Amino acid sequence: MRPFTVAGMTEAKGTVAGVTEADAAAGAGVGAGPLVQLEGVNKHFGHLHVLRDVDLAVARGEVVVVIGPSGSGKSTLCRAINRLETIDSGRIVFDGQPLPAEGRSLARLRADVGMVFQSFNLFAHRTILQNVTLGPIKVRKEKPAEARERAMSLLERVGIASQADKYPAQLSGGQQQRAAIARALAMRPKAMLFDEPTSALDPEMVGEVLDVMTALAGEGMTMIVVTHEMGFARHAANRVVFMADGQLVEQAGPEEFFANPRSDRAKDFLSKILTH
Ligand SMILES: Nc1ncnc2c1ncn2[C@@H]1O[C@H](COP(=O)(O)OP(=O)(O)OP(=O)(O)O)[C@@H](O)[C@H]1O
Ligand SMILES: [Mg+2]
Repeated sequence: MRPFTVAGMTEAKGTVAGVTEADAAAGAGVGAGPLVQLEGVNKHFGHLHVLRDVDLAVARGEVVVVIGPSGSGKSTLCRAINRLETIDSGRIVFDGQPLPAEGRSLARLRADVGMVFQSFNLFAHRTILQNVTLGPIKVRKEKPAEARERAMSLLERVGIASQADKYPAQLSGGQQQRAAIARALAMRPKAMLFDEPTSALDPEMVGEVLDVMTALAGEGMTMIVVTHEMGFARHAANRVVFMADGQLVEQAGPEEFFANPRSDRAKDFLSKILTH
């Protein structure tokens, strides 16, 4: 496997943009195969078929934006990759290994796949700094002093180092979401999943969170991002995946997708959100 260095990641990203979907699916030219691979994944909630034969391969360093109507299965897709939801059939492979069902390997998967939700999910009774150091100390077994030092540099990076000793409720939504991103990054994840990270934010705070995410994408982090922020999709995504009724209806590079959506569902969806 290619070492996970900044140089390697940037190079991988350059490769990703140039390869066809089929190449990306086969992992051609990018590390040792896709980092995330879903094959024929199905999921039901009772009678509701929420993921229908989903096939998706995400290359190392690739940024995939998932869009689609409410209820189309976007959150379920993200949660399945992190095994917060089980699946009924099919296969999900992360970094060459089928998703573990339980135990220590599941804890490792959760550490390897950082997840940022719409609601910030910070620990309310811990300071921002403690929120960021807790996982590295408990799960990654890092020394507290080292974890603190790294946490501070991550908080610096997301622009909230001065808030380190405050509690989540004392921060703005945008600051809390940036803290949640720093907390996920502190685990040294191989991939980051974002599920509508800006949709609970006041408009003036959306930009500061998207800036952090854009920088992360530029550094070569593998990202799956559910968002309605089409500016982010245009500028930061390698690929846009459109979901409807539990299916991946179409996928393309952002320029092609926005200029030339093929399916009626995607055209209809875009006309609604772009004129909204
Ligand atoms: N735990 C659950 N139990 C039962 N049904 C669920 C559960 N979670 C999701 N669903 C249903 O599964 C479908 C897909 O939900 P999901 O949250 O994945 O959609 P989504 O695309 O993320 O929607 P949104 O854009 O509103 O966030 C919806 O019809 C939803 O009501
Ligand atoms: Mg959702």
